[in-house]
Amino acid sequence: MLSNLKQQPADKILALMAMYRDDPRPTKIDLGVGVYKNAEGVTPVMRAVKAAERRLVETQTSKSYVGLAGDPAYGDAMIGLILADAVARDRIAAAATPGGTGAVRQAFELIRNTSPEATVWVSNPTWPNHVSILNYLGMNHTAYRYFDSETRGVDFDGMIEDLAAAKAGDVVLLHGCCHNPTGANLNLTQWQAVVDLLNEKGLIPMIDIAYQGFGDGLEQDGAATRLVTSSVPETLIAASCSKNFGVYRERTGLLMAVSQEAGNTAVTQGNLNHLNRQNFSFPPDHGARVVSTILTDDALRADWMAELEDTRLGMLALREQLAGELQRLSGSDRFGFLAQHRGMFSQLGTTPEMVERLRAEHGIYMVSDSRLNIAGLNAHTVPVLAKAIVDVGI
Ligand code: LMR
Repeated sequence: MLSNLKQQPADKILALMAMYRDDPRPTKIDLGVGVYKNAEGVTPVMRAVKAAERRLVETQTSKSYVGLAGDPAYGDAMIGLILADAVARDRIAAAATPGGTGAVRQAFELIRNTSPEATVWVSNPTWPNHVSILNYLGMNHTAYRYFDSETRGVDFDGMIEDLAAAKAGDVVLLHGCCHNPTGANLNLTQWQAVVDLLNEKGLIPMIDIAYQGFGDGLEQDGAATRLVTSSVPETLIAASCSKNFGVYRERTGLLMAVSQEAGNTAVTQGNLNHLNRQNFSFPPDHGARVVSTILTDDALRADWMAELEDTRLGMLALREQLAGELQRLSGSDRFGFLAQHRGMFSQLGTTPEMVERLRAEHGIYMVSDSRLNIAGLNAHTVPVLAKAIVDVGI
């Protein structure tokens, strides 16, 4: 049996992590995987997370199973964080999942179970694992235009034109904020136009929100998700706490399914529970409990928000510095988009050959689609990157 197995294609983000690790050059710079690093290159445990963990160690009396949907307090706290009061709580079913990827996977399975004919529309480009999981599940999917490689902004007309060809019941996967991999985002007027199209054509939004608080602020980054969810009959939302709580390895995610009628919520909840049971049974609890401890305690929440805001402002400062340095070195404004993009990533919009030259000649690692992780930089490495970009002729 095992000898019949075929080699699986490597995930390009994870393959890059391994290449970086094996590179002996001391000057190498990792702008690959989407993990936040501070100026010292460390991915810290956030202060509020440490405090919540200490509290849990002292007060937790059991590690027995919770429920298939996880701790309800976690679901409630996350619904509050992401949706606030955009829709009535009794329309929302929610289940904890192993990370945001777990929520994406469960959402796709839910779609496949209930609408096997539906096509899932993904942005071109999108996080590569979206497409990989859709392929793995054998689901219909197609891409809509998203990134304009000339302006490095959103090709909004192309996006709307492509989505106009979707059929009723199709699902449109949208990034709630901080688009991964491009860093280019819709403004609220454009989001409203997307909502109008969804309603006009009877399309169902699935929102992946993994970077709330990394873009324009915690509230601002939730605005699009709230607008969509409050304006359409049904929404699926896959949320991750990996980045904004820095709990990557704890695998802390949540799938929310918003029904048109509160009367449908119990059956939807039952389906989320059933999916969890079939795939892994009970979801991880530790990260979820840390998150709900923080979100329900005024002091911890305030401290978490302050640290998250520092993180966000630090990334914005790096964006400004990089755009400024590139303007100085290249004598042109063509890299101004780096300061306009939001979140952890920007897509340079260059070729895989150029990306490979940055790696081979300068020890700078970014994903072959030219996505760079802004948080992998610091004030000292920004000029190194800018010089390398200009040197290779991007
Ligand atoms: C990324 O896009 O780099 C992160 O979401 C990590 C991952 O799992 O790919």
